[in-house]
Amino acid sequence: MIDLAFSILAADFTHLAEEIATAERAGGTVCHVDVMDGHFVPNITFGPPVVAAVRRCTNLPLDVHLMIEDPDRYIPDFAKAGADWVIVHQEVCRHLHRTLTQIREHGMQPAVVINPATPVETLIEVLPMVHHVLVMTVNPGFGGQSFIPRCVEKVRHLASLREEMNLNFRIEVDGGIAVDTVGEVVRAGADLLVAGSAIFAGPGNQAQTTKNAEEFLR
Ligand code: DX5
Ligand code: ZN
Repeated sequence: MIDLAFSILAADFTHLAEEIATAERAGGTVCHVDVMDGHFVPNITFGPPVVAAVRRCTNLPLDVHLMIEDPDRYIPDFAKAGADWVIVHQEVCRHLHRTLTQIREHGMQPAVVINPATPVETLIEVLPMVHHVLVMTVNPGFGGQSFIPRCVEKVRHLASLREEMNLNFRIEVDGGIAVDTVGEVVRAGADLLVAGSAIFAGPGNQAQTTKNAEEFLR
């Protein structure tokens, strides 16, 4: 099963509920929420209050991508806000095993993400405990960036580890995923596809958003 996780970072925030409903009706199966703190990444987006508002708009799984320093501090807040899946960056977690355990103890599914410069090998010890692994296919921080082709090899590597280790974590990709890049990542083994600018067409353009999602899923 392949999931389309639409990233609301590219949505029209003045009509967030409608944008989510449109993406969902068009076939989106997961709602991806990008939390940025202006420290780990050079951009600031939103936090638990917005996650709680999104929770009231949809029953789809909320896939919360934490691009923040010290994620441990905020795990209880995201649990309270209604997050289902929480993704933390390997690069900021000094005690990654502990952080993932805490996410699970708060009733959410733990996931881990690596930047383009971080190798898959850094995750081997935690693969048995994660719901999914996110391979960034751009440097995190902004929507609308170009896909980095070299990252596909990491998806392939993870897919073969999943097989070898007899595990069933999902493999997610995020950044520059669009009609022209989606085939390649799916063939490599990705089954959770994050897409922002390839889906959301801009303020008041619900019809085009629907078309984009349909074309993407074809
Ligand atoms: C980037 C975010 C992505 C972003 C993807 O740091 O993690 O989720 O919304 O946007 P597109 O699909 O436009 O590359
Ligand atoms: Zn993301």
